[in-house]
Amino acid sequence: MKDFENSFSLDVNDHKVSYTDEGKYGAPVIIFIHGFPLNKSMWNLQLESLMNYCRIITYDIRGFGNSDAGNEEFTIKLFAKDLISLMDALKIDQTILCGLSMGGYIALNAIENYADRFSALILSDTTCKADTTEAKEKRMKAIENITNNGVEKYAEDSIKNFFTPKFVKGKTEEVALVREMILKSSPRSLCNTLVALSERKQTCTRLSDIKVPVLIMVGKEDIITPPAEGQSMHEKIKTSALKIIESAGHLSNIENSEEFNYQLRRFVELVPQKSILPVQIGPE
Ligand code: MLT
Repeated sequence: MKDFENSFSLDVNDHKVSYTDEGKYGAPVIIFIHGFPLNKSMWNLQLESLMNYCRIITYDIRGFGNSDAGNEEFTIKLFAKDLISLMDALKIDQTILCGLSMGGYIALNAIENYADRFSALILSDTTCKADTTEAKEKRMKAIENITNNGVEKYAEDSIKNFFTPKFVKGKTEEVALVREMILKSSPRSLCNTLVALSERKQTCTRLSDIKVPVLIMVGKEDIITPPAEGQSMHEKIKTSALKIIESAGHLSNIENSEEFNYQLRRFVELVPQKSILPVQIGPE
């Protein structure tokens, strides 16, 4: 997996955000939002595949990768506001938005509150539902574990849930990169985000308000947000298509990047051309 070192930083919404801005000038813009507890590097395989067709922005959510945590209490709503502030700073009026898992929670919050800023959505391995009581309890246990035992054990447990056992065994390089991303996160950011995830509101009841094209993708073997979650969102969003990604677990963009990228590219080609913006690559 190629590493995209060419990142920039900007001060937005009272914190420093680290982002990459790659691809074709004047082409459709796609902003990618990573999952928990990863960072923008999780999209490197999509960058590689799409940069000749689109302008691609990936960024680190506050507290992850190279972005500062800032001083505010983490919430999904704050993360969505950070995204809009980044778009404002980059003078992007409207974009295609792609979020995986936590990135999807943020994307759904963002489209609920700032609908006119998005021309299309890609929701990957995610759900519109809030945490159940059981899921909230699991998050509190995870906080206890991270506090008492550090991030290493948490990273190993996460990897088992992110990929199929076959992939963990065979694709050591990809798995090592994901482990590295998790280990880069501070215990404080992990714990604060676990609280934010457990307190997030459901977005299911507003899905029928979404009027832009939506591509829902989910790994067939995703055990965190299984295909049924994607199916249920698909039934509520009239403008959506659902693609089940074969031979992939939760991080379907990594485990079957070929199929994921193929579906993504086909979808982006079909999105109305209004998303093409005459914008300059890189910061002002
Ligand atoms: C993610 O991949 O972002 C997480 O699995 C989301 C979650 O824990 O709900």
